[in-house]
Amino acid sequence: MQRRLSVLVASSNGMAWRICGFACEFLRTEFADIEMLDAGSTPATALAQRGRFLLVVSSTFGRGELPRAAQPLQASLRERRVDLSGIVFGVVCLGDRSFRETFCGAAARWKELLGFGGARFAGPELKLDMCERRIELPRLHAWSRAWLASLGRTSLAE
Ligand SMILES: Cc1cc2nc3c(=O)[nH]c(=O)nc-3n(C[C@H](O)[C@H](O)[C@H](O)COP(=O)(O)O)c2cc1C
Repeated sequence: MQRRLSVLVASSNGMAWRICGFACEFLRTEFADIEMLDAGSTPATALAQRGRFLLVVSSTFGRGELPRAAQPLQASLRERRVDLSGIVFGVVCLGDRSFRETFCGAAARWKELLGFGGARFAGPELKLDMCERRIELPRLHAWSRAWLASLGRTSLAE
């Protein structure tokens, strides 16, 4: 498996960056080279130029949408249809269960957006309830192992 991972972080108030930091610690067992990208300043074309593996760590705002900072990237992925067909990606989403039906709605948005460009989703996705601002590290760790196993199967299947 390629040892390079890009992590795209979409955050308004910083929690997604904290989660990203923990996730990267867990994922370092397989990825020697991890690069974090701010969704607020990363052009869609840059995603296509990185390595094969991408993880999105995103919070959810305004009725299940992406944080405001990520909206230019969202528009560009929609309109420009950048070719992302070489990319395999995962999603860790932050939300708050009290928002009920829009809980972690950003996860579906990212899957749709990256799918437009032909990127392939590798599960499982992780939805974290941040309502008490408590970080569920054991769940994050278990997810990271499951995701790495899924990426390993993806690579073997090719
Ligand atoms: C104005 C506002 C709207 C929100 N809307 C949603 C929502 O629709 N669904 C959801 O699951 N969480 C929602 N949240 C919760 C955030 O996703 C959660 O607080 C998250 O931890 C923020 O992460 P960040 O600090 O990285 O931006 C909302 C929070 C705020 C303040």
